[in-house]
Amino acid sequence: MVRASILGLGSYVPDRVVTNDQIRFLNEKHEVCAEPQTDTNHEWIKARTGIEERRYVPADSGYGSSDLGLFAAKLAIEDAGLTPKDIDCIIFGTLSPDIHFPGNAVFLQSKLGIDGEEGCACYDIRQQCSGFVYGLQMADAFVRTGLYKHVLLVGAELHSHSLDFTTRGRDVMVLFGDGAGAAVIGALETDDEKEGILYTHCQADGAGAMDLYLKVFEIAKAPYVYYDANDREQNQIKYPQMNGKKVFLNAVRNMVVSVQRALKESKLTWDEIDWFVPHQANLRINEAVVQYAEIPPEKALNTIQVYGNTTAVTVPLTIDHYRKLGKVKKGDRILSTVFGAGFTWGSAIFRV
Ligand code: ACO
Repeated sequence: MVRASILGLGSYVPDRVVTNDQIRFLNEKHEVCAEPQTDTNHEWIKARTGIEERRYVPADSGYGSSDLGLFAAKLAIEDAGLTPKDIDCIIFGTLSPDIHFPGNAVFLQSKLGIDGEEGCACYDIRQQCSGFVYGLQMADAFVRTGLYKHVLLVGAELHSHSLDFTTRGRDVMVLFGDGAGAAVIGALETDDEKEGILYTHCQADGAGAMDLYLKVFEIAKAPYVYYDANDREQNQIKYPQMNGKKVFLNAVRNMVVSVQRALKESKLTWDEIDWFVPHQANLRINEAVVQYAEIPPEKALNTIQVYGNTTAVTVPLTIDHYRKLGKVKKGDRILSTVFGAGFTWGSAIFRV
């Protein structure tokens, strides 16, 4: 029987570390100002979110999220023992694409040097923090049905250019960081139903759509950009808006149910799962999920302390972080549960 399996992983974060003490001195060009620009502090951020620092691209890097994705993609392809030419499908998850359209996958395809008349299929998906699990479900189905041989799944985010670096935006601004993560998914011949990617489940509840959103424009209006982007009285629309408490409660509730469902439907117990890798939105969310879903705390892996919330990137970035530290080993089985804007959520169980 053909199953799908993760053949390689890679991740990338920019070198630039921005601590909680530094973030309040940044303006929207990421310049360090003499006076604080945002009324926030390390104690609040750490106590409420667990975040201590995050990574930002240099303000003048000229990078887009497809460039960050390229760094991670190359590492994942190499880790799989393949070359870019072996990739016959790209799935790109991001909420911070280079431009409105086309999507990032085609830009990444060109940057990998595999564009042209024989170029592979390119998909962009918009499930925000749930992007990796949603993308993994697609890749799993594509590979198992024989449609594609080697799917490159990439999550990449450049958040630091679209945050409100003032007190008005502080609830969201302090949360996010830049980065990229990638996986190559390919076929595995095995009769063992528990090998490779053995479970994926995705859900959404559109009733929560406007509890976490970034408009930038409204196509229903003409002109569809109807505000002065530099006028602070009007420009809140270009920054993410969040009903933090509602997101928090929905995240905990749905992630707990999703974990329980994954265990029930896969017929696995925690004895057969090495690690729990939740999305990294808030350390308190993840601690609550571990408690209510009765997950062995020593199996939960978190990186939000050092990378903040990198949205579609958090799952491959966290796995790769602990792989580099030698904690996650080849063949380990992971249960990953995510929750994000939409609301969207889901779980996957797979070996790395
Ligand atoms: N620094 C200092 N004070 C702050 C900050 C800040 N950065 N942000 C908010 N505050 C203040 C508020 O103004 C408020 O002040 P007030 O009491 O004088 O009105 C006080 O702190 C408490 O604010 P709350 O919003 O009640 O704080 P809460 O404990 O709910 O934490 C947080 C806020 C961290 C945003 C939390 O709600 C959260 O993590 N929500 C979920 C985030 C999330 O999961 N996002 C989803 C993923 S993102 C995606 O999918 C794109």
